[in-house]
Amino acid sequence: MRYCLNIHTFANKQNHQIFNNMKRNTLLFAAALLIGLTGCKNTSIQEEAWMDNALDAASYQLKLTAEELSGTGKLPRSIYSGYDVNFLDMQLQREDKSYIDSLHPNPPALQLGQRYLCSIYDWTSGFFPGSLWYAYEMTGDEELKNRAIEYTNLLNPIRELKGTHDIGFMMNCSYGNALRLAPNDTIKAVLIETADNLCSRFNPEIGCIRSWDFGDWNFPVIIDNMMNLDLLFNVAKLTGDNKYKDIAVKHAQTTMKNHFRPDYTSYHVVSYNNDGSVEVKQTHQGKNAESAWSRGQAWGVYGYTSCYRETQDVTFLQEAVHIADMIMERVKTDDLIPYWDYDAPAGEKTPRDASAAAITASAFLELSTFVPDGKKYADYAETILKSLSGPGYLSAKGSNQGYVLMHSTGSLPHGSEIDVPLNYADYYYLEAMKRYMDRHQ
Ligand code: GLY
Repeated sequence: MRYCLNIHTFANKQNHQIFNNMKRNTLLFAAALLIGLTGCKNTSIQEEAWMDNALDAASYQLKLTAEELSGTGKLPRSIYSGYDVNFLDMQLQREDKSYIDSLHPNPPALQLGQRYLCSIYDWTSGFFPGSLWYAYEMTGDEELKNRAIEYTNLLNPIRELKGTHDIGFMMNCSYGNALRLAPNDTIKAVLIETADNLCSRFNPEIGCIRSWDFGDWNFPVIIDNMMNLDLLFNVAKLTGDNKYKDIAVKHAQTTMKNHFRPDYTSYHVVSYNNDGSVEVKQTHQGKNAESAWSRGQAWGVYGYTSCYRETQDVTFLQEAVHIADMIMERVKTDDLIPYWDYDAPAGEKTPRDASAAAITASAFLELSTFVPDGKKYADYAETILKSLSGPGYLSAKGSNQGYVLMHSTGSLPHGSEIDVPLNYADYYYLEAMKRYMDRHQ
């Protein structure tokens, strides 16, 4: 990696952070050179070489993709893949085969293996700009910063969107990171407008933010919605108005009451009646209604860790710890990259979900700083990050259609995005790397 920024341009706290990362990398490079020259061994430097290699590969992939898609108005989401109904059936082990009706037709043969692009209105549109921001933060590479600005600006119209809870994901991962690393008043205004729109989806009778506007549910709330609360916490701090935080806290409390089973696994979807009673508890993307969908468990532990960070309410911390312990107990794979559902049949052919692993690693690194026995969570996260940074998951430069990681699963019951790269796997992987770096500075 090359670092050519003028250090005198760093004026604020965020930029000092970037400078610290650059300093660390420069020192690492110098030390590695020394080892090469003297032939001596330094374990800690050798141990961190995996991280330098991963950041180098990730930056390369992101820059390549940013250049290829520049000016198209599109963002990278995944790779088109097909599916085999018999295989899905074996994974789902369901008696009720009605899910087969919900399968989308396979993409045309010409699209198979091609990059799957999305518009700014896709729920994943914030992740690519967010990945560019994290890669810039860790490397200080100005090209990454310029691309991050370019792709963040694309999302500006989303500030007016009200039709989905995903506006939290979309804008906090793009504009939220922009505000940390290159703040200005426009970014602030965009985040406030988005938070107001997210709050318009909050129902005080039910005590939750509505997730989806499609489907037959009365008022669906998915565990993923815990990830939208960081936007509200951020905007509460930006504006000094606690209404955003109050809504986030109420949503987290209602979700804690209704989404979780006694063993701290969670339902994916809980739909409410208008009086706040539960209409139904089920899954959309998991193996079955009672299973522990891997990404859903990751969203949960991440969300409650954020809630504790922002409120210091120990009930949120306890919830995060319980979910984390359950994940550590339920994982069946040696490299800690879980199967797509913790209840999926274990086997070589069972798809993994690198996105769930990356989200879990990021959450565990933060959780580890809040509890006295945090080392076990940090160690678990480190194992995940080392697995993801190895050749089994990390793309070689120029391969994998420009994505950083391989082997994630979007929605197996829909035959959708199985064993493919996903832009949110890349995003949370980079975020976890950043948290790991902070811990080791
Ligand atoms: N938020 C949708 C998913 O996790 O797939």
